[in-house]
Amino acid sequence: MLPANTRDAAPVRPATVRVHPKDVVTMSSGSPGSENPIRFSEEHSAEVVEASFANTPDPRLRQLITSLVQHLHAFAKEVDLTQAELEAAVDFLTRTGQACTDVRQEFMMLSDVLGLSMLVDEISHRGPAGATEPTVLGPFHMVDSPPRALGDTISLAPGGEPTLVTGQVLSVEGHELAGALVDVWQADENGFYDVQEPQTVPQGNLRGLFTCDEQGRFAFRTIMPAPYPVPCDGPVGELLEATDRLPYRPAHIHFIARAEGYATLTTHMFVAGSPYLDSDAVFAVKDSLVRDFPLIEDAELADRYGMATPFRHAHVEIRLWKSS
Ligand code: BEZ
Ligand code: FE
Repeated sequence: MLPANTRDAAPVRPATVRVHPKDVVTMSSGSPGSENPIRFSEEHSAEVVEASFANTPDPRLRQLITSLVQHLHAFAKEVDLTQAELEAAVDFLTRTGQACTDVRQEFMMLSDVLGLSMLVDEISHRGPAGATEPTVLGPFHMVDSPPRALGDTISLAPGGEPTLVTGQVLSVEGHELAGALVDVWQADENGFYDVQEPQTVPQGNLRGLFTCDEQGRFAFRTIMPAPYPVPCDGPVGELLEATDRLPYRPAHIHFIARAEGYATLTTHMFVAGSPYLDSDAVFAVKDSLVRDFPLIEDAELADRYGMATPFRHAHVEIRLWKSS
């Protein structure tokens, strides 16, 4: 519910929506030019509101707002939306905005748990067959990921199960992409990112920016990531609770791969067998992104990367497509 004073302060809106004169002709129920415009009614609500946007100069904005009006009105009619429900929705969205800070984007989380982020991701990155599939960025990426040398560890705090990740960045056609940049970040063994534990772990923990070698190869040492809940102490958490949905994400490592002339790819590597692979709160799991992390006893591999046996190892090929 909106507080009474907020509602009282709201500007008084006209009871009818004015249709632009240009559209009175086309929308008129009388003859062209007659003073008989279609008035706002349950039946004609969407047409009348759409017409009010007919002069929007930017054609894409006009398309977006027109379609939004059509869908919103169809939704309200389909569910017989009540005044109380509209007020509850306004209150929810208000609190969602109020929960946003410099380091928290509650609206994006709302988009994530509604599957909208993943849908837009799919629409925006229609890669060719053979390309690595994209998935959501999430809120924990740091623009200034710490640059690290190939083979370095990204684990700067004690604890966790030692893990080696090796990989190669290639084009869809199989060309090795020398000098590609691979930005990685992940949660720790308890499911926390460094930014969630600023008092206890060094910033930059479990993050790294790697420059691939001449064959597009990269490697880093880390620990096994754990599943974790999306931040659910705000309105989005309330929504998950009210709808009996789990807030958890399966264990994963985030990747952004960039190479000159290729579309930048934002994706994850999911841990095979992790809980919540089938109920990811943000719908980001794709079968092609799930990897085994077997336990390795190989002394030669251990020596090459400065690991002690046994350790977990996963290998990932990232295939990028040419940007248009
Ligand atoms: C994440 O994987 O970091 C994440 C993605 C979407 C929402 C919340 C967290
Ligand atoms: Fe994550």
